[in-house]
Amino acid sequence: MSHCYKFLAPFYNKFTKDDGDYDRWAEYILKAAHEHGSKRGVDIACGTGKMAKRLCAAGLNMIGVDKSTRMLMWARDDYRTLWVYQDMRKLKLIRLADIAVCVNDGINYLKPTELDDFFLHVHDNMTPGGPFIFDISTPYKMAGMDKQLYYWDDDKATLFWNNKFTGRRLIMDLVLFVKMTHGAYLRKEEQHIQYPHTIESITAAVERNGFTMREVTESYGLPLRPESDRWTFYAVRDMR
Ligand SMILES: C[S@@+](CC[C@H](N)C(=O)[O-])C[C@H]1O[C@@H](n2cnc3c(N)ncnc32)[C@H](O)[C@@H]1O
Repeated sequence: MSHCYKFLAPFYNKFTKDDGDYDRWAEYILKAAHEHGSKRGVDIACGTGKMAKRLCAAGLNMIGVDKSTRMLMWARDDYRTLWVYQDMRKLKLIRLADIAVCVNDGINYLKPTELDDFFLHVHDNMTPGGPFIFDISTPYKMAGMDKQLYYWDDDKATLFWNNKFTGRRLIMDLVLFVKMTHGAYLRKEEQHIQYPHTIESITAAVERNGFTMREVTESYGLPLRPESDRWTFYAVRDMR
């Protein structure tokens, strides 16, 4: 089983085309940036840079950080952003960020025991008073994915994505068939493991590590519901 996003990366943008309203999400983030006077941002677990590119186009000076070189390869067509290969659990930026974001599940890749260290690293790389906006898939969404098989297909590749949720982990087994020039298909496998977190555990970890939680909403600004599948957290780095 291969490292996650190794084989998926070239197909990620197509595969997630309808996953998430990035333009609306960017508006929410840019409103916070405007309110705080943020000029320099970081997109943590930026992947192919879907959010970093939008924020850069809106005038923010961005750094994108990810631990998948393959995902970053697809990000770097935007030369105005600095793309950095780095594990977010050891985040170390060349300059402080006035605003930090982590969009579309990045934090679900962290174990509950890794949250404190992660939030402390983000804190240490931000200017005081700056907003940190991130989202996670909810336990409700993850439970609903248990035993579900998703399927995606085009003329270049076919993806089968099988899910198992144990209550503590969501194990996603991906089988990708990539079409070769001579018409045969190459079979690739990769496994992704995500961890459920609660609003309480995230808020406690954030506030233990130098932030104040300002609001928690469904999917970038909507009211929370028991069936929310994405929670967005808007924290502000403390002044000290
Ligand atoms: C679901 S993708 C989201 C990518 C991007 N934020 C977006 O909105 O399209 C999750 C990303 O998290 C990255 N990731 C997972 N664990 C990471 C870690 N420890 N450090 C940095 N990036 C990580 C993966 O490589 C992947 O690009």
